[in-house]
Amino acid sequence: MKNLLSIESLGCAEIARILEVAAVMKAGRGHHAERPLQGQCWALMFSKSSTRTRVSFETGIRELGGGVMFLAADDIQLGRGEPIRDTARVMGRMLHGAVIRTYAQKDVEDFADFSGIATINALTDGEHPCQILSDLFTIIETRGSLDGLSVTFVGDGDCNVARSWIWAAARMGFDLRIAAPPGFQPPDDLLARAGGRISVTGDLRAAAEGASVLYTDVWVSMGKEEEAADRIQRLQNYQINDAICRIAPDALVMHCLPAYRGKEITDETFEAHANTIFRQAENRLHTQKAVLSMLVDA
Ligand code: CP
Ligand code: NVA
Repeated sequence: MKNLLSIESLGCAEIARILEVAAVMKAGRGHHAERPLQGQCWALMFSKSSTRTRVSFETGIRELGGGVMFLAADDIQLGRGEPIRDTARVMGRMLHGAVIRTYAQKDVEDFADFSGIATINALTDGEHPCQILSDLFTIIETRGSLDGLSVTFVGDGDCNVARSWIWAAARMGFDLRIAAPPGFQPPDDLLARAGGRISVTGDLRAAAEGASVLYTDVWVSMGKEEEAADRIQRLQNYQINDAICRIAPDALVMHCLPAYRGKEITDETFEAHANTIFRQAENRLHTQKAVLSMLVDA
């Protein structure tokens, strides 16, 4: 594995290996004998806000022995219009790896091509692969395996997190049900390309019935702020709350965070499942350390 650009670009065996290495990273935290990033310098180049992704990568790179710099896009010439390809060609001559949060999926792909250094997608409009790796790890940690898993994604079914779930379900062979209203459902061509056992419906109650995971994300993703009022109105019935949890009483309730209580999830349901939700956040550190160590080994 030379880069982590998407879940789409990973195979089942690669995902399984990342999750295995993540378990080793988690168990061995604080007493790693090896420092695979020793002598290396990585950059985090972010065009969007972040708490979890930034902190987990900065911590993880340092724990693996590397140095790290944080570059907000507006602090570098990228923010004044220098092309991503030129930025990549400069950084590729100085750094060992880059973690990029931006808008277009093509930008992280171009960065990887033009820099030639290990490149990680830390969220684009197209995918959020690091999040879904952490979520799969959390599910395995809780349930023991992905066997018999059925994940119900509630809300904006065409956002980056939902799209990474689509590819994860296709690659790992579990059931994914997307509950989203028209206008927020993933396009047919994406679903056809992914294959797998994925269903899409506007009927939230039907999608939730008997699910092993109820998952949601914000209704207004970064970059969609101008659509906020319209999105909140059209997605208002796609909320994880006590009534939905009663339909899937054994479900893990998961959220990638940040959460907007009273919108995609109620405060009551969020707090009842906070242990799982914050373990997802913590597991970002361990799964990303697994990815970093595997990219260095490649
Ligand atoms: N879930 C997630 O990626 O959080 P941040 O936006 O805080 O990094
Ligand atoms: N879909 C959300 C995920 C945040 C981690 C966004 O893009 O803002």
